[in-house]
Amino acid sequence: MSKYLFNTERKSSPSWDGREFHFLKNNDMINFHRSLSGYKPTPLIKLKNISSDLGVKNIIVKDESGRFGIKAFKALGASYAIFRVLKKIWGKKYGDGFDFNSFRDKKKLDKLGKFTFCAASDGNHGRAVAWTSKMLGHNSVIFMPSETVTSRITNIESESGKVIIVDGTYDDCVKVASEEAKRNGWFEIADTAYPGYTDIPSWVLNGYSTLFREMEEKITEYKIGKNDLIFLQAGAGAFAASGASWLTEKFGEDRPKIVIVEPMEASCYLESAGEGKAVATKGKMVTIMAGLNCGVPSIIAWPILRDSADLFISIPDKYAEEAMKLFAKEGIISGESGASGLAGLIALMTDETLKDAKAKIGIGKDSQIILINTEGDTDPENYKKIVRS
Ligand SMILES: Cc1ncc(COP(=O)(O)O)c(C=O)c1O
Repeated sequence: MSKYLFNTERKSSPSWDGREFHFLKNNDMINFHRSLSGYKPTPLIKLKNISSDLGVKNIIVKDESGRFGIKAFKALGASYAIFRVLKKIWGKKYGDGFDFNSFRDKKKLDKLGKFTFCAASDGNHGRAVAWTSKMLGHNSVIFMPSETVTSRITNIESESGKVIIVDGTYDDCVKVASEEAKRNGWFEIADTAYPGYTDIPSWVLNGYSTLFREMEEKITEYKIGKNDLIFLQAGAGAFAASGASWLTEKFGEDRPKIVIVEPMEASCYLESAGEGKAVATKGKMVTIMAGLNCGVPSIIAWPILRDSADLFISIPDKYAEEAMKLFAKEGIISGESGASGLAGLIALMTDETLKDAKAKIGIGKDSQIILINTEGDTDPENYKKIVRS
């Protein structure tokens, strides 16, 4: 059953000036990504048929399924975080002089030495860490939950990443990755932050902002404002927090309403909003939306979403399947987690249990909607099965 909760902590102008929010001042991410070989802004597509079917004015979707050839937005976070890690190591050893070009400078990279980067992942982040490591000639080790499907493992192995299956969930993998990094002298590139470990996940979160920056002109052109809505899917929450913080800082009180979408059985943000503090989900953590199957909020993402989101909803898998099919009809390849923003919109417009939320948030024929298709067919077998059913 779908659930919803309006955010009573939302502030129209949050102040993110404290030390813990310092990383939000970083602004070199898009220029860093522009410097990478193969960089291209991903398309922003207008969904005409779906808009009229769902009874809204306009839906635009940022399609990340082709990002850097690894089929998910996650490449943006891992690459920027690893750049910042290498810059820091260089700085300690040699002082200034590690810039965007250094990332392509084999001599400089060799001078730094060979590293192993490790991460916990349901699939996409691990693939992004492995992709970046391979590009630089470093090693990667990725810890994955026991339920992981074979294709997500081979996606990582094909980027020369070593996969280790952990008997447990994504959150168990985060713990193991942290311990193994310390034991082996590896660098952990986590996409979630926990007490005592926030710098690297903050750079991952920073990196995602490039996709939102790429939309800036269109948001202005379409005159998207405070009566419109953006649906942001949340796992550990860095992606949604990246979008929410960027929109809040850029558009202030005129930002579109922010709807956070989670799977019914892994809704740590909705549950945290209910408790007024970051808590682990009480759900069973079973969902086809593998990228969102995270049980614990990232400690850097939680305060951002607590201060800026309007509405939290959690939805059953059937809406993700429906969304994947609808996207496919429009020629957009969207995997289970990728389609979850549209899944949230479908649920909000059609699910009886969300009827009051729909009325209160004020979504209807005049609303413009922003969605992000965060992944393509990262599990091609299941993708085909769902889309053809
Ligand atoms: C396709 C996809 N979408 C969304 C997310 C959610 O990102 P976050 O964990 O930062 O909330 C993930 C995370 O792995 C993902 O793979």
